[in-house]
Amino acid sequence: MTEQSPALDNLLTESRTFPPSDEFAGQANAKADMYATADADREQFWAGQAERLSWDTKWSQVLDWTNAPFAKWFVGGKLNVAYNCVDRHVESGHGDQVAIHWVGEPGDTRDITYAQLKDEVSKAANALSSLGVVAGDVVAIQLQMVPEAIFAMLACARIGALHSVVFGGFSPTALRARVDDAAAKIVITSDGQYRRGKAAPMKANVDEALQGAETVQKVIVVRRTGSDLEGETPWTEGRDLWWHELVDGQSTEHKPEAFDSEHPLFILYTSGTTGKPKGILHTSGGYLTQTAYTHNVVFDHKPGEDVYWCTADIGWITGHSYIVYGPLANRVTQVVYEGTPNTPHEGRHWEIIQKYKVSIYYTAPTLIRTFMKWGEDIPAKYDLSSLRVLGSVGEPINPEAWIWYRDKIGANKTPVVDTWWQTETGAIMISPLPGVTAAKPGSAQRALPGISAKVVDDTGTEVPHGGGGYLVLDKPWPSMLRGVWGDDERFRDTYWSRFSEQGYYFAGDGAKYDEDGDIWLLGRVDDVMNVSGHRISTTEVESALVSHPTVAEAAVVGATDPTTGQGIVAFVILRGNAVDGGDDAVQELRNHVAKEIGPIAKPRQIMVVAELPKTRSGKIMRRLLRDVAENRQIGDVTTLADSSVMDLISSGLNSGKEE
Ligand code: WTA
Repeated sequence: MTEQSPALDNLLTESRTFPPSDEFAGQANAKADMYATADADREQFWAGQAERLSWDTKWSQVLDWTNAPFAKWFVGGKLNVAYNCVDRHVESGHGDQVAIHWVGEPGDTRDITYAQLKDEVSKAANALSSLGVVAGDVVAIQLQMVPEAIFAMLACARIGALHSVVFGGFSPTALRARVDDAAAKIVITSDGQYRRGKAAPMKANVDEALQGAETVQKVIVVRRTGSDLEGETPWTEGRDLWWHELVDGQSTEHKPEAFDSEHPLFILYTSGTTGKPKGILHTSGGYLTQTAYTHNVVFDHKPGEDVYWCTADIGWITGHSYIVYGPLANRVTQVVYEGTPNTPHEGRHWEIIQKYKVSIYYTAPTLIRTFMKWGEDIPAKYDLSSLRVLGSVGEPINPEAWIWYRDKIGANKTPVVDTWWQTETGAIMISPLPGVTAAKPGSAQRALPGISAKVVDDTGTEVPHGGGGYLVLDKPWPSMLRGVWGDDERFRDTYWSRFSEQGYYFAGDGAKYDEDGDIWLLGRVDDVMNVSGHRISTTEVESALVSHPTVAEAAVVGATDPTTGQGIVAFVILRGNAVDGGDDAVQELRNHVAKEIGPIAKPRQIMVVAELPKTRSGKIMRRLLRDVAENRQIGDVTTLADSSVMDLISSGLNSGKEE
C-alpha cells in the first residue's frame, strides 16, 4: 500500500436519480430551505424542534457540551415523555383517532384509539407504582409485538422508570446478562408467542434466565398464547403476576410527573456481531425531540391522514424510535404487526397494506431482498396504491434492491428514503428528505438539517468528493447516546477515541462522497477487504452482484490470499425464478462484477447458497462467512437468527457448488 492510498476505494458509480414530483414537493413537511436555516443557527433550529413537544418547564440552555462527550440538551427543561406521546393528543381532541391498528399473527386484530391508549398506559403506570417501582428503577421487557409491549414502555416513561427491552427471540443467557447488568427490578414477558403459525413458550425461557437473579422482585406475564401453548405456564408464587390480573383493575387516572430533560428514558443493549453487549443509554428531551422531528420530516408524516407502518421489532432501536416514541409524539395512526412476513403466506405485508391503506412503509434491506427472492408477482396481486413514502434502514441498500422497492412496491412513483443511523445515535442522522432530495438509489445522501456528518481519512481530514473513508459525526445531536450503562470508559473508548483529537464520534462505518458530495455508506470498516493494496468495501461488491438479474442477495468477505493479501469470496442467493448456478453462471457473475466496478473487485470465488447467516435484526454476519471462506472452524454462532444456516452453507460447499 502506498502512503496516498485512501482509507477506502470508491469503485461503484450509480448515476440514476429520482427527484420528487412537484406534487409531492409542494405538500412536503420539509422544504429545501431547512438546511440553510439549521446551518445559520443550529441551537435555534433544535430549540424550534423541541417546541413541537409539550414542556412543563422550558429549558434555559439548548446544549451544554462542556463535559464532552457527555451532552446535555435542553438543560433545565422538564417534560413527561408519555404525556407527549399520548395524553396531549387526547387533550387536543383526538381521543377517537386510532393510534394502533394491531394485527396478530393468527389473524386476530385490535384497534386502539389514543383515549384507550391513555387508559392502558395509565393503568400500567399505576400497576408498576403499586409494585414499588419508582423513577430511576429499571424494568426489563421481553415481549413479542403485542400492544402490551408499547403500554409497558410508555408506562415506564410515565413514571420515570427506565425500560430495557430485550428482543423476544433472545436466549435465557442473553436475557439474564441484560437483567443483571442493569439490575432490573421487574421483568415483563408473556406466556408464549406465535411464531410462524405455532405457539412457542416465552415464560419458560424467562424462568430459566431468572434462576438466582437477585435483583428481580416481580415478573409480570401477559397472556397471549393461553391454551394454544402445550402444558401449564410455569409459575413462581409470590413473584409472578398475570398482567390482566394486575393491570386491568387499576385506575385509569394517573398524573404524569414532569422529569428533567436529561432524565434517563431507557437502556437498549447492542451486541453488534461480537463482544459483551453494551447498554446504550438514552435520555428524555433530546431523544424525543429528534425522533419526533425526523419522523416528521423524513417520512413526511401527516397526523390524522397517513397510516404508517414500521416493520421493525420493538426489541431494536428502530422499534423504540420509530414505532413508539417518534411516531406517537407526532400523533400517528400506525400498524403494528405481531408476526413474520411469510405467515401464513408470502403476501402478508401487502395484504395488510391493502387492508389498512398504509401510506408510509419503513422496513429493512434484508426484507426487501427477501421479497425480491420471493418474486414480484406476489406484491403485484395487491392494491398498494395507498403508499406514498417508502423507507429503508439497517444496512446499506443495494441500488438494485432500491429500484425494485420503488418500482414493484412504490409503483415507480413513491420517494424512497434510505435512512442511516444507529442504536447509539437514537434517531435518523443521514437521509434524503422526500420532498426535497433528488434521490440516488443506494445513497443515504446528506446529513439532515441540524445534523453534521463527515467522511474523513485516517488522520481525521475530510476526504475530497469522490473519496472514501470513515464516517464521523462532528457535532453533538439531541438524541445522541449519553453513555454506556455503568461503563464511561467503554463509552469513550468505543466511540470517541479513534478521532479524539478532533472530538469526532466515530460510528464504525465506512463511507464515501460521490462527485456531488452525497454520502454512500460502505459497510462496517471491520469488514473492509484489502486486495492488492486496494481497500474495497463489501457493500460495493455486493451491490454489483445484486445488480445482476439472477441475484437476490449477496454477501462478500475477504479471505487470506497468498498473492493478493486478501481475495474476494462471495456468497449469493439467487432470485426465485433464476435457475441454479452452474459453472457458467458463476463465471458470468464474476465477469459482471468486473464490468460493473473493475477487475480488481472480481471475486476469486462465488458460492451459490440458499441462506445467509444473519443476526436477529437481519444484518449479515460476515465474520462467520470469513471462517467458511478460510476453511476455519466456524466461530460463535449464538447471535445468529437461525443457527442451522451455517450447516447448510458448509454442506453446500462440500457438495462442490463452489467454483
Ligand atoms: C448499519 C439500526 C447503511 C450501519 C438503526 C450502522 C446502515 C448500523 C443504514 C447500526 C443505512 C443502519 N445504510 N448502513 N441506511 N442503517 N446501517 O444499531 O452499519 O441496529 O452502524 O441501528 O447499521 O445498527 P443498529
